[in-house]
Amino acid sequence: MENSNTGSNTCIVGLQWGDEGKGKIVDILTESFDIIVRYQGGSNAGHTVVIDSEKFILHLIPSGILRKNKYCVIGSGVVIDPRQVLEEIAELRTKNIEVGENLRISEIAHLVFPYHKKLDELSETEKGNDKIGTTRKGIGPCYADKMARNGIRVADLFYPEHFRQRLKKVVEEKNRILVQLFHTGPLSWEEIYDEYIRYAEQLKPFVCNTVAFMDDAIKAKKRILFEGAQGSMLDVDYGTYPFITSSSVIAGGAATGVGICPKQIHEILGIMKAYTTRVGSGPFPSELNDTLGEHLREKGGEYGATTGRPRRCGWFDAVAAKHAITVNGVESAVLTKLDVLDEQKIIKICIGYKFGDTIYHRFPADLTARPDCQPVYRELPGWQKDTSRVRNVNDIPPEAKNYIHTLEEILGITITMLSVGPDRGQVVYLV
Ligand code: GDP
Ligand code: IMO
Ligand code: MG
Repeated sequence: MENSNTGSNTCIVGLQWGDEGKGKIVDILTESFDIIVRYQGGSNAGHTVVIDSEKFILHLIPSGILRKNKYCVIGSGVVIDPRQVLEEIAELRTKNIEVGENLRISEIAHLVFPYHKKLDELSETEKGNDKIGTTRKGIGPCYADKMARNGIRVADLFYPEHFRQRLKKVVEEKNRILVQLFHTGPLSWEEIYDEYIRYAEQLKPFVCNTVAFMDDAIKAKKRILFEGAQGSMLDVDYGTYPFITSSSVIAGGAATGVGICPKQIHEILGIMKAYTTRVGSGPFPSELNDTLGEHLREKGGEYGATTGRPRRCGWFDAVAAKHAITVNGVESAVLTKLDVLDEQKIIKICIGYKFGDTIYHRFPADLTARPDCQPVYRELPGWQKDTSRVRNVNDIPPEAKNYIHTLEEILGITITMLSVGPDRGQVVYLV
């Protein structure tokens, strides 16, 4: 690793409900960093990077892995499904991506077990129409166990007798829930034990004390890129509770999820799509349940990178984005998928939420409890030109510039980069 500190450790955060194009932007920015770190979430994330038409989808491994001579760290705030991470490593290797000494996995990260996935699935099924629409990757139950002090961490795998006893106790407890509450069959702790002991062997080369690794890196003035997963509107505290994920998505989560001082995060870069999407249930005031919504889904390829589910699509929600900007302290952002709006005659931005006669410009805490929310829109002319080939700021159509500047003005931030297509090269630097 070269020693080239500029005091610019950066945290990438999604400013909407996820899938803002974080993977693509992390891959581009990785060139200027030494270490790329995931700090929360798990295999619910699906980060897509397209390089010369070859598509990579990363779930647990940082998107920085695609570039040579970079370190990638899975921090302690991530919940790790070992099967998933091993599959991902194998798949990357078949595509000639090096995964070895460059990947570090926290020894104190919590593990996702089959009972987490089973409980995620059963709880969703039982909720019926009220379901959250989770990815069913066991994320919520795993974080719940962590907080309830019933979790099992990566390091536990390397003490077989201790692991066996702990697993047996936890599985016996889960089996009472599975059998008595959900009337389903019990799981065998012996089978899980055998499976996870096999994973332990395979994971061993990557596991380390990432707190010490990061401390050394900071002291050596390495440049660090924190790769947020999900979006701020899915944050456990600041999102549309209970239609959220179970981790601290926002930049503040990077300090606790990696074990570094918050002062080590020098810049927070928001990623936002030129429109809004969300997968799963929950409030979405600017949702378009019409042919335009379908057009955005088809043109934008808005199908979940993890579950393949169609994403709900709508106009850019500036009320939600402003909330995300506030809770993250974002000053600059990347605007992605501008090209998806190319055909539109009129483009709308949701600038307020109307409840009866009252218009809210600040994101209300009780949105989930108030289905009567009506979006208030500002309308702008569309550009009706192909932007996917634009690479220079001077070639951006004037109406598109106007859209970008209007967003900057409403949100009080600077948009520093535009993304106009999925490929690594499809970007325009604005400043
Ligand atoms: P992430 O979870 O934030 O990394 O985003 P996803 O990978 O889940 O979803 C973003 C999708 O949009 C992926 O299919 C990307 O390849 C694609 N994408 C990213 N940026 C752009 C863009 O500027 N234009 C278009 N058309 N597609 C993009
Ligand atoms: P990336 O990192 C979009 C959503 C799920 C569901 C809710 C809870 O690719 O942006 P969970 O499985 O986390 O308990 O599901 O959160 N969700 C995402 N939506 N992008 C993601 O990740 C997501 N990760 C979780 O659809 O609504
Ligand atoms: Mg995604």
